[in-house]
Amino acid sequence: MLKIIKYPSPVLRFANELVTVFDDELKELVDEMTIIMTNSRGVGLAAPQVGINKKIAIVNTDGKRYVLINPRIISAKGEQFGQEGCLSFPGIFENIKRAETVTVECYDETGEKQFYEVSGLTARAFQHEIDHLDGKLLIDNLSTIKRDIINRKIRKNSRGH
Ligand code: CO
Repeated sequence: MLKIIKYPSPVLRFANELVTVFDDELKELVDEMTIIMTNSRGVGLAAPQVGINKKIAIVNTDGKRYVLINPRIISAKGEQFGQEGCLSFPGIFENIKRAETVTVECYDETGEKQFYEVSGLTARAFQHEIDHLDGKLLIDNLSTIKRDIINRKIRKNSRGH
């Protein structure tokens, strides 16, 4: 069974490969990621967060599961500012600026090309998960001061174990 990899594991920063084979193994991985995300009460999960450095992410908002394989943001509009968390940063929630609406081109788990235009929380989750696939993390969107505070907090907590 896969488990969630937490910051500062280097796996979260490794380059993620494009998916070229759409087989049963991929579908099983997407299903397993969905179970982990749901059990952890997340609204999104990217493959590097379970130790798989491939361009695969899932988002679950409003009871709909989006499978984002090799996703690309093709347009972004507006601005939203709100709280964001990450399963790789348990207990950390920060206000982060994102585009209000994004249009994303990707493939689903069957290899079919999809376009999604999403707004609000779904757009926030899409941008967060696509960042993961580029090795970019929640804290990269924060000021240096905030980032240092979080890094210190995480180091302190990990020494306690
Ligand atoms: Co995350």
